[in-house]
Amino acid sequence: MGKTKLSAAVQAKLLQSARKVMKNAHAPYSKFRVGAAVLLSNGKIFSGCNVENASYGMTNCAERTAIFSAVAHLGPKIEIQAVSVVNDDGVPCSPCGACRQVIYEFGPNATIFFQGKSGPKQAHITELLPEGFRLQ
Ligand code: THU
Repeated sequence: MGKTKLSAAVQAKLLQSARKVMKNAHAPYSKFRVGAAVLLSNGKIFSGCNVENASYGMTNCAERTAIFSAVAHLGPKIEIQAVSVVNDDGVPCSPCGACRQVIYEFGPNATIFFQGKSGPKQAHITELLPEGFRLQ
């Protein structure tokens, strides 16, 4: 289960999708706008932004919005190959714990691109989420 090598062009497209959708974020409480794009193994890209709520705990992260959109459009038999996460402030931002588990469900071999402490980083989902939970 090695790291998937994405071409520079595909990586750039994924990043561009995440940046574009970030502008649609509903983040009046945190003011922290996030965009995410998922690349599926069929080559399709789906994107999502964070959607906050006055009842803060109802907030949906950008990553889960993107993944849920992919499932809504194509059904549950999708495989996530890569995820790109961006934010408006250039601050370090890897997927939260909840999103890591959701990524793992559909992409146990996914590569995640995100802003690290000192620049862009990439990591395998199992580096971010060792021993992810599966029922079958
Ligand atoms: N957020 C995301 O959408 N993705 C992440 O990876 C980190 C956090 C959102 C949730 C909330 O709307 C805001 O960022 C601040 O936590």
